[in-house]
Amino acid sequence: KFDNLAMTPPMGWNSWNKFGCNVDEKLIREVADALVATGMKDAGYTYINIDDCWHGDRDSLGFIHPDPKRFPSGMKALADYIHSKGLKLGIYSDAGSQTCGGRPGSRGYEFQDAQTYAKWGIDYLKYDWCNTEGLKAEGAYKTITAAIRKAGRPMVLSICEWGNDKPWVWGPNVGHLWRTTGDVYNCFDCIKDHGSWKSWGVMQILDKQDGLRKYAGPGHWNDPDMLEVGNGMKEGEDRAHFTMWAMIAAPLIAGNDLRKMSEQTKAILMDKDVIAINQDSLGVQAFKYAVKDSVETWIKPLKSGDWAVCFLNRSKSDKPVEFNWATESVTDDLSGKALNAGQTPYVVRNLWTKKETGATNQPLKATVPGHDVLLVRLSPKPGSK
Ligand code: DGJ
Repeated sequence: KFDNLAMTPPMGWNSWNKFGCNVDEKLIREVADALVATGMKDAGYTYINIDDCWHGDRDSLGFIHPDPKRFPSGMKALADYIHSKGLKLGIYSDAGSQTCGGRPGSRGYEFQDAQTYAKWGIDYLKYDWCNTEGLKAEGAYKTITAAIRKAGRPMVLSICEWGNDKPWVWGPNVGHLWRTTGDVYNCFDCIKDHGSWKSWGVMQILDKQDGLRKYAGPGHWNDPDMLEVGNGMKEGEDRAHFTMWAMIAAPLIAGNDLRKMSEQTKAILMDKDVIAINQDSLGVQAFKYAVKDSVETWIKPLKSGDWAVCFLNRSKSDKPVEFNWATESVTDDLSGKALNAGQTPYVVRNLWTKKETGATNQPLKATVPGHDVLLVRLSPKPGSK
């Protein structure tokens, strides 16, 4: 890997899912304050990322400036503020002539823009793909990578071309994460048709990750888009969404209003045990082990020799699950690890209820509510091999 950034999936917040084009420095400062005050920072969320529509115009020399009404203090002052809180600042641009929101894109200004971002103290760049007629994705993203390196400030590069040109194949040497799909929206199991494009519910996005796990690893991640936790889905749906993003080692970029979070939303976004599954240093995505009567079993090997096992109930009604550790044979072709739960006794801990639910010498039996998950972590029993 070309640098040591994003060795675990990036964690932070981004303005787009909740605020769209309504961004200004007051919002960004308030969200940064809230990220610290709520405990999100302590839970691992570090990046405050401004998405589309922060831009003003280019000056006569081609330098980009933030919208003077929305960001009157300028980006350097904002970055200083964010850094003073121990956080990092992300910004957004586009490989084409204009961003999706019609602001100036970086096409033809890549080196100049990267230099400007470095001067401001930017730590993360999301680089979008609107208005890119005539460009090839790999080359366009390589240009901005070269520009960032030339500018000399380490920045996480988030490739956002929606999975069109197989970014998982060329992305690992170019950026730190790449979107695998079009945009997510705050619905568990739905598709929204906008005419020329669609946005996708959480389950639809999940299904589009099939076959991609082998491309991800420390420093280079599949990005199934940002979180919709706290943006209107039911509590169980938010929990299932967050859990699955943790299981597939997705970047955890919150997309809700951190200034107004319910206790339930906080409990989901800041669950240390679930975040630990996501941030596990092995960096291997979960695989789908089985599907039975609308319940999917997902399994993620962890660095310590532990395993995370998630039962995802995609139906709206409660479903019984039964899993006999002794007779199932679980191997992960990618990491080469085998879960011999029949021979090795593991302690089974339910990560959302925080209850120990026995060991792997007993089959696991439970009911999973509709649109919700059961998530357990298996740890070798002390004293066993
Ligand atoms: C399309 C991207 O996929 C979104 O995440 C967001 O960045 C918008 N563009 C902004 O216009």
